[in-house]
Amino acid sequence: MQITKNEAPLFPEYPFKEYILAGETPIIAEKNYDWWIDRPHGMDGWIINLTIEGTGQVWKDERRFLLQQGDILLIPESASHFYGRYENSPLWKHQWVFFHPPKHWERLLKFRQNINGVFKTSIVSGHAFRKIQSLFEDIIHLSYSLNKNELDEEISMNILEGILLRCAKIDVLENSSIAPKQTDEKMIEIAQWLSVNYTKPLTVDIISKAMNISAHKLTTQFKEHMGMPLMRWINLKQLEFAAKLLRVSSSSIKDIAKQAGFTDNLYFSRFFKKSYKQSPREYRKKNSSIDSSNPK
Ligand code: FCB
Repeated sequence: MQITKNEAPLFPEYPFKEYILAGETPIIAEKNYDWWIDRPHGMDGWIINLTIEGTGQVWKDERRFLLQQGDILLIPESASHFYGRYENSPLWKHQWVFFHPPKHWERLLKFRQNINGVFKTSIVSGHAFRKIQSLFEDIIHLSYSLNKNELDEEISMNILEGILLRCAKIDVLENSSIAPKQTDEKMIEIAQWLSVNYTKPLTVDIISKAMNISAHKLTTQFKEHMGMPLMRWINLKQLEFAAKLLRVSSSSIKDIAKQAGFTDNLYFSRFFKKSYKQSPREYRKKNSSIDSSNPK
């Protein structure tokens, strides 16, 4: 049997070395992929899993619970995986994204319900479910596109951030009886806009004008919803991007700082060192995917 590129990650021995990778696993009783996904030591990355059809089950002991259409699981790095088709259901179709979250996503990487280290939430409204499913599909499509380039990874991460923001919003709104603190549409829109524009020279003033919101509202609401000050969030995004360029490109560190939106080189190096506990040069040496026999 010939295994296609899209199918390979559905088999247990797949190594998952990608930075971000998505897929759809259509489990059909006694036919396709009908085994339990069993990774006792978890994975070297996070997983978000959306049930689209049929019923799935997590664990087989007293902790067990079922997954129905619209249920979302968020499994942290190294948390154990043990899930499969619920035996009374003829199928369990789910979509998933494997990813390495950047630091500034911390606040988004949890739902209210935590069942033994695994987070769960549910998308109840049909409209929201279709939206989120189509975003999963976009990432799946990008994962296997033939003319993949480096930016596809960025685009996938950007879409995934949109998924997580929507899930965070739904999680507080629909799955809680206590007064919700919602991430409103405007903040989602702003975060998405920033995710595309963060390497440009931005100030609170520029952003508030572009997004049509007062500077005061922008800074206070952003902090409230995203859990950190606006400019810090932007700086962290720039830093993640710079780190990525250090891994995958051979440009000089000065150029990379500039491409990531840092105007002051020294500030970049200090900030990098503070966050990554190593200099950009050391980081590149350890993590570069480029042949180091020709360093710049
Ligand atoms: C696939 C599984 C899917 C998810 C990814 C990471 O093999 O079918 O549920 O765990 O691996």
